[in-house]
Amino acid sequence: MESDGDSVFEYVTRAPDIPVYAVMVAYREDPSPFKLNLGIGVYRTEEGKPLLLNVVRKAEKLLVNELSANKEYLPITGLAEFNKLSAKLIFGADSSAIMENRVTTVHCLSGSGSLRIGAEFLAKHYHQRTVYMSQPTYANHPNFFVAAGITVKTYRYYDPTTCGLDFQGMLEDLGAASSGAIVLLQTCGHNPTGVDPNLEQWEQIRKLMRLKGLLPFFDCAYQGFVSSSLDADAQPVRMFVADGGECLTALSYSKIMGLYAERVGALSIVCKTADVASRVESQLKLIIRPMYSNPPIHGASIVTAILKDSPSIVTVILTYREMYGEWITELKAMTNRITSMRQQLYNALHDRAIPGDWSHITKQVGMFSLTGLNAEQVAFLTKEYHIYMSSDGRINLAGLSAKTVPYLADAIHAAVTHNA
Ligand SMILES: Cc1ncc(COP(=O)(O)O)c(C=O)c1O
Repeated sequence: MESDGDSVFEYVTRAPDIPVYAVMVAYREDPSPFKLNLGIGVYRTEEGKPLLLNVVRKAEKLLVNELSANKEYLPITGLAEFNKLSAKLIFGADSSAIMENRVTTVHCLSGSGSLRIGAEFLAKHYHQRTVYMSQPTYANHPNFFVAAGITVKTYRYYDPTTCGLDFQGMLEDLGAASSGAIVLLQTCGHNPTGVDPNLEQWEQIRKLMRLKGLLPFFDCAYQGFVSSSLDADAQPVRMFVADGGECLTALSYSKIMGLYAERVGALSIVCKTADVASRVESQLKLIIRPMYSNPPIHGASIVTAILKDSPSIVTVILTYREMYGEWITELKAMTNRITSMRQQLYNALHDRAIPGDWSHITKQVGMFSLTGLNAEQVAFLTKEYHIYMSSDGRINLAGLSAKTVPYLADAIHAAVTHNA
């Protein structure tokens, strides 16, 4: 029978474009040979290409040859070995919380999935329905919590006058937060600012939060991308775990292993006792089951092959331990390239004597820099120079190369003097 009349979805209104994707589309459609995309949140090589890590290729080859491998469903909480290794990565091999079985870790769909499941768990099982997040923060952060019915508030974090940390403002806002509230913290390589507290500041944050009974939820999307040491970058989390208190962590392998599309990550909840941790895990299963039943195996198997330190059962030259070392080498190479881009950009801006203090470019850390360029200057860069970035002036340093740094510096020079 032919259907006629209006669609039953006639009244669906068009949703607004998501800004970061709109920038991507505008870049793709720009025919200019000089176009430059600094708006993306992914690592790029010096040639501007996506990077598939060699160690990931090797792990995939191993997996293909693994005779015992199959594609049967994983448990709701995912690949058990992956969960163990992920907890070790973030909390440290010698973590007493792990040894005392006070940590429950579930394999989730990358950092986003871990944040979303964590938010849902808190909405159902935690007494406080308010989360505080840094101002500004990763654009998707509020969505994970709003979708779970949690109220989102902000704490001061970024000082636009110094392009650095507003530490006093942060302490004041956390000090004024309602007791027991959830606080979302980015462990390192803060997106979008590139501004991290130092360890002494973390210690003050920790003391204040514990005093007020605020619940930390760490987003760990860039572990290793700041200092190229996985242990050093995880230090803020480990300080909170060492005091015996509770916290949540959302770990992502998107950036640090270049596994973006595999959607692989882990949510961990550190509890006071092993008994609580096991009850928490039982409830996490009830949350995950109606959402996607169980996670995909491939990405987590790659990560497991790389992190595992027991020798491979497959007769190949490489042992798993060697793969871990190879990963660290590749992680360092990515981090070093980003750091070098920071220095090159700063030098180029300095050489041109562009008005303003650009030292924040090298003071900030990780993949991003909030340059201090305003929306008008960003629009100028896009219109006149085909340089794309979000309107807040955030750039991804991994989108730059030795060849494009002078072009960007010339463009910033023009934007700053044009709007002066
Ligand atoms: C701070 C932060 N958290 C989480 C994510 C989520 O990434 P994914 O879901 O790919 O792990 C991102 C991605 O850009 C991010 O920057």
